[in-house]
Amino acid sequence: MSTELRGRRIALIGGAGFIGHNLALELARQGAKVDVIDSLQVNNLLTFSAKMPDLVNRELYLRIIHQRLDLLHEAGIPLHVQDARDYHALGKLLNQQIKPQVIVHLAAVAHAGHSNKDPYSTFDHSLRTLENALDCARDSIEQFIFLSSSMVYGNFKADEVDEEHPLEPIGIYGALKVAGEKLVIAYHQVFDLPYTIIRPSALYGPRCVSRRVGQIFIESALSGSTLRVDGDGSERLDFTYVDDLVDGICLAIRHPAARNQIFNMTYGGSRSIQELVEIVRQHFPRVEVQRVPRDALMPFRGTLSTRKVVAQLGYAPTHPLEAGFAKYVEWYRALVGEPSATAEVQA
Ligand SMILES: NC(=O)c1ccc[n+]([C@@H]2O[C@H](COP(=O)([O-])OP(=O)(O)OC[C@H]3O[C@@H](n4cnc5c(N)ncnc54)[C@H](O)[C@@H]3O)[C@@H](O)[C@H]2O)c1
Repeated sequence: MSTELRGRRIALIGGAGFIGHNLALELARQGAKVDVIDSLQVNNLLTFSAKMPDLVNRELYLRIIHQRLDLLHEAGIPLHVQDARDYHALGKLLNQQIKPQVIVHLAAVAHAGHSNKDPYSTFDHSLRTLENALDCARDSIEQFIFLSSSMVYGNFKADEVDEEHPLEPIGIYGALKVAGEKLVIAYHQVFDLPYTIIRPSALYGPRCVSRRVGQIFIESALSGSTLRVDGDGSERLDFTYVDDLVDGICLAIRHPAARNQIFNMTYGGSRSIQELVEIVRQHFPRVEVQRVPRDALMPFRGTLSTRKVVAQLGYAPTHPLEAGFAKYVEWYRALVGEPSATAEVQA
């Protein structure tokens, strides 16, 4: 038996980010009453509004973020510009104004490399915001959903890992995700707060500004630059098109079977970076490749088993990398095809 999304009050903390705004739009499309809470400060409008010398593609990313905000506005989704590190303001907003039944916590410094460079602010935006949200939610919320990560596992001990794989993170990002999961479970133990923990990996798709590998490859190809491949290209990631994850989160909200569970939520089949290069070549035949040393703090990953989420929630991702990447390239071409933007793309 599943719950209807129609009319459900759902607050997305960090909901103006890449995953969050895509999720907000789909939830609203299915009739939910969605509110977005976001400070717009991290990897968002205010980051790219600052004229920092090392910001790549600043104008382009500002355009992408404005697209997100316009889409939210057109869908009638309220955006509350609020820093979730402020416990009292967040509590007032959630408990007196929005009164959600479900909270999805997405706020974070969502980038392993940035987290290792700036642990202090990563702790603040990822764990402080989470604890604030849990504490504001503990008496009234029907389901608290936390976006964790495949980085909780550290180096995968097998080609495919399920949710029982040991948690041995490497670096600040993964460590804070493990801490976040434990905190969510503790709020369930102490306050009976129902939760769902979701472990996604290697997302890609429209309106991302995080400069993960797929995005950088497309931008390099568009600007005629070489693709910089970390290591020998044999490294594998479970690339997941954002719409598949969004569908999975919607299922997790609808199905009671998702309560108090942890789910891997990816495409469910890893692909090597070299395979990604070949897919990029199908769209940009002339691209050349340059090998660069890989970041030693990135764990070696692979496939996340999706058996549990498929069996319990009926999760059914529909985008193998070829299909998802074709959509992503098409979206990028349309974006930079506009004359004002073509010159902006840098690798
Ligand atoms: N994108 C991926 O590949 C991926 C993979 C695994 C897990 N995740 C997790 O999913 C979540 C969302 O990721 P994303 O890719 O959408 O990231 P994102 O950077 O696009 O979005 C994060 C959002 O959180 C907001 N935020 C940060 N600190 C805040 C604060 N103090 N108050 C209010 N808002 C704040 C930011 O402004 C931003 O809009 C993160 O928790 C991330 O760790 C992402």
